[in-house]
Amino acid sequence: MSNFSNFMLNFHILTLFPDIFSGFLTESILYRAKEQGLISVHLYSLRDWGIGPHKQVDDSPYGGGTGMVLMAPVVVRAIREITKEWDRAKSRIVLLTPQGKVFNEPKAKDLTKYENVLFICGRYEGFDERIRDFVDEELSIGDFILNGGEVAAMAVVEAVFRLIPGVLTKEEATEIESFTDGLLEYPQYTRPEEFMEKKVPGVLLSGHHANIEKWREEKSLEKTKEKRPDLLESGDNLKGPMNHLKHGGATHHSTHGKEGEC
Ligand SMILES: C[S@@+](CC[C@H](N)C(=O)[O-])C[C@H]1O[C@@H](n2cnc3c(N)ncnc32)[C@H](O)[C@@H]1O
Repeated sequence: MSNFSNFMLNFHILTLFPDIFSGFLTESILYRAKEQGLISVHLYSLRDWGIGPHKQVDDSPYGGGTGMVLMAPVVVRAIREITKEWDRAKSRIVLLTPQGKVFNEPKAKDLTKYENVLFICGRYEGFDERIRDFVDEELSIGDFILNGGEVAAMAVVEAVFRLIPGVLTKEEATEIESFTDGLLEYPQYTRPEEFMEKKVPGVLLSGHHANIEKWREEKSLEKTKEKRPDLLESGDNLKGPMNHLKHGGATHHSTHGKEGEC
């Protein structure tokens, strides 16, 4: 049993295709976290709230157009039943939609605060607009269109649950990953020391921890400038030891080292 057993984050996923999640829920770190009692994941088939003998969940759009739209009474009834015994102050209802705010690491961290989080996966042409009034927020996983919200739900659940204390082992620890400090992670190397005439930077072989840390901070900033300059434009999510670098300050040596990465 885990040392963190008094905290459990319960994920709830409302979907037309619960079977999509089977491998995701029974493998690797997520499975271990469930076994340790740190998280739970509950699947709900939207079809169970469908209307009439055919359990209808969608209908054609008013005004014409192709595709089908998920019906408000179906989705709202499902939301109400699933959440009826929840403490609403400790829960979050999230609509997965390409029209939502783009999901990121600070949002992942934010979602770890809740006891229950419900993700609503759309399909077809998406949701009747009135459904939006019954959710707390809308999240997108990027500016592209998926066939359904299931892959988005998996991405968000994975980004959130790995931040819960006790989920990752020391070797898998998350203390400095890309985005943790609002910067991309520094370059990583493992054996061999030389590969196709490309050598591991000497400082990493030096055993000089302060120099290694300084090098990593510098490379982290360099990499971010090169690949994701947008992250530097706003310092809002730039916290911790890397913040001074963005502003051109002198390098200092942070006290937390990276234990490993998964
Ligand atoms: C084909 S999409 C519908 C898109 C909708 N017609 C629109 O333009 O907003 C079907 C469902 O997939 C999910 N989906 C698609 N792209 C997504 C994204 N980038 N992020 C999160 N969910 C997405 C949503 O749940 C959406 O309702």
